[in-house]
Amino acid sequence: MEGRAILRITTVVGARPQFIKASALRALVDSDADVAERLIHTGQHYDDAMSGVFFRELGIRPPEASLEVGSGSHGAMTGRMLERIEADLADHPADVLLVYGDTNSTLAGALAAAKLGVPVAHVEAGLRSFNRAMPEEINRIVADHVADVLYAPTQTAYDQLLREAVSPEKVELVGDVMYDVALVQAARTHKVADALATYGLRANEFVFATVHRAETTDSETILRAVVEGLRGLARSVPVLWSVHPRTEQALKAHGVSTEPVRTTGPLSFHETLQLVRAARFVATDSGGLQKEAFFHRTPCVTMRTETEWGELVESGWNRLAPPDSAETLAGALLDALDAPPGRDVAPYGDGRAAEKILASLKERYAT
Ligand code: UD1
Repeated sequence: MEGRAILRITTVVGARPQFIKASALRALVDSDADVAERLIHTGQHYDDAMSGVFFRELGIRPPEASLEVGSGSHGAMTGRMLERIEADLADHPADVLLVYGDTNSTLAGALAAAKLGVPVAHVEAGLRSFNRAMPEEINRIVADHVADVLYAPTQTAYDQLLREAVSPEKVELVGDVMYDVALVQAARTHKVADALATYGLRANEFVFATVHRAETTDSETILRAVVEGLRGLARSVPVLWSVHPRTEQALKAHGVSTEPVRTTGPLSFHETLQLVRAARFVATDSGGLQKEAFFHRTPCVTMRTETEWGELVESGWNRLAPPDSAETLAGALLDALDAPPGRDVAPYGDGRAAEKILASLKERYAT
């Protein structure tokens, strides 16, 4: 039929990093008459600072569906999503359902489609922390093992999937969509207001910090070690910490003081990029930020015991600093002030991951 899209993709997103990842493919779909994307926003992240601002800055068209599930326990949140995604798929048939990363929205999207017999495509497949206490580890393992096509961002991720006996025909090494986005957005961020001036910081003379993982915020001991580590560092160099709402709640609940660390609420994508680029180093427990630091050749200290992005530790761009105690963490953070740059490596592809994914989806699922 004339004018009919030959590939109908339903994409499920819900959390900050997924808006960033999804922007690369959505931009391509917009200029491809043969493809229609139905973007479902689960509503896992709903504040403007956690959601709307990303759509505006990244230039993503608004979602076709908003499920408004909001916050809650993992089971409640995932259950609400499952029910609503299933209903959406019934009303709007798709040739393939696409999910990104490892959040509860990823899990719900993958499960809802798999149960309906809709093919599942998982972007950022094969990542492992080997720590099943992390909700993200459960989400990514389940998503990978119900997926029909798995797009691995790195060789390590690709190899891991084959080790887990995923059929090689299902797995494609395409590179990292976040790298695609970093290349496009780096040029645009030069035009926005200077984040350094906003926060009274000088390039290369401050550390940019974020903390949001449940494994950090849900343990008072670990949270206190991280805060004390950052406070220790802030006595030597200005530290700007962009505080996630989950972390804000935990700090309040335990009456933890962050002085003399400078704190601010969640930042927009462009502001974050500017600060990452200008920082002496980044201190974080985020997965995405470890890579974003590397894309801009800023060293990173990951305040965790393990990372899914081991290639950055091997190449010297990232150091693991387990939050075992405030003293060891503060020591590791201070050491990083003099860290030399890492080796020249290129583990995340050529900036064309989204193009490869779209070509592959068309080949596999276009009707
Ligand atoms: C989620 C993902 C995590 C990802 C992160 C990116 C899961 C299990 N975790 O973690 O993998 O790295 O997103 O940021 O899916 N809240 C607000 N406003 C919002 C959203 C959340 O105030 O717009 C508060 C709520 O109190 C909520 C808490 O933050 O309970 C945590 O939100 P949630 O979506 O459960 O997990 P994240 O910590 O954001």
